[in-house]
Amino acid sequence: MQTTPIDVIDYDANGYDYREYWSGRDYELWAEQRVLRRLVPKLGRPAWFADFGGAFGRNAGHYLPRAAHAVIMDYSATNLRNAGERHAAEVATGRLHLVRADLYRIPFRDFAFDAGMVVRVLHHLSDVNRGLTEMSRTVGSRWLLDVPIKHHVLGLARGLRSGQLREVRSPDPVAMGVEEQFWNFRLGAVRERLGDLGWRTSLGASVNNFRQWEKVAPRANRLARPFVHGMEVVAQTWGKGWWGPSQFVVARRHDPAQPAYDRPGGHTADLPPELAGLARRVVCPVCMTRLNWTLDTATCIRCDHTYHRHGAFWDFVPPL
Ligand SMILES: C[S@@+](CC[C@H](N)C(=O)[O-])C[C@H]1O[C@@H](n2cnc3c(N)ncnc32)[C@H](O)[C@@H]1O
Repeated sequence: MQTTPIDVIDYDANGYDYREYWSGRDYELWAEQRVLRRLVPKLGRPAWFADFGGAFGRNAGHYLPRAAHAVIMDYSATNLRNAGERHAAEVATGRLHLVRADLYRIPFRDFAFDAGMVVRVLHHLSDVNRGLTEMSRTVGSRWLLDVPIKHHVLGLARGLRSGQLREVRSPDPVAMGVEEQFWNFRLGAVRERLGDLGWRTSLGASVNNFRQWEKVAPRANRLARPFVHGMEVVAQTWGKGWWGPSQFVVARRHDPAQPAYDRPGGHTADLPPELAGLARRVVCPVCMTRLNWTLDTATCIRCDHTYHRHGAFWDFVPPL
């Protein structure tokens, strides 16, 4: 399979540490944790779970207790190293695998996962349809998506003020940001795409409905916190589909798929059990062919690329 590479945001540039992004963002953190507590249980009890763009595993506490195995997939080596420290015990036992990968070229077989989630990532995908198609390919049953929309209440107000209401309401993604570009979408367009890919979607929650509050009035925010949290609780339900900038969508496959990847033996017969389950699911991201594994390398039997393990994570980003 040959596809044109698309630029991927580099979270490793200039010594950036994504963990620091969260300092002083108590309200957003609280709002997201609340919604994940409510919605992750809707994904059932998956045998294999994917956290697409899962970074340092900020959200792993929600799915690790429910999933037999999980994979954090991310392009950033720094984030994965930090995930390795944060979740060292789960990585050591093979309950959690850390995989460096590009979401446009995922090194996993079709329906390798029963369930997955993608939180705070879609705004980085300049070709969101391609990203959604590739992630969808690997998820067999249920999926939770955080969709950054452009037509939320503030977005509409801004569009009205600047005379750009038509762009805000159109189905096309819009590029935002000055120093760094990011993308916002029309929720209906993303749900339609998911429908084409075989998913039935429902609105889960409207999240970060008062995100600007923390920026505008950090001191007042402390005093008003109980009030703002109360408003967020109401808006998470009442604002589904229109109020806030992050709309969480729960997706279920019309025809759930559950391939029998866990039959023992074959090319993984000599691997320890904590690695064998991963090896049965991973393929070469360049040609989608199976790999020959050692404890530290995986080599494609077709195109000969060798992928390496670096400490806690496996690197499946193909060479340029
Ligand atoms: C804002 S962080 C969100 C991390 C995590 N999901 C969370 O909620 O804290 C975005 C993450 O997506 C990753 N990412 C963005 N585009 C990607 C791509 N094409 N392939 C793999 N990872 C990507 C980044 O490396 C980064 O770790």
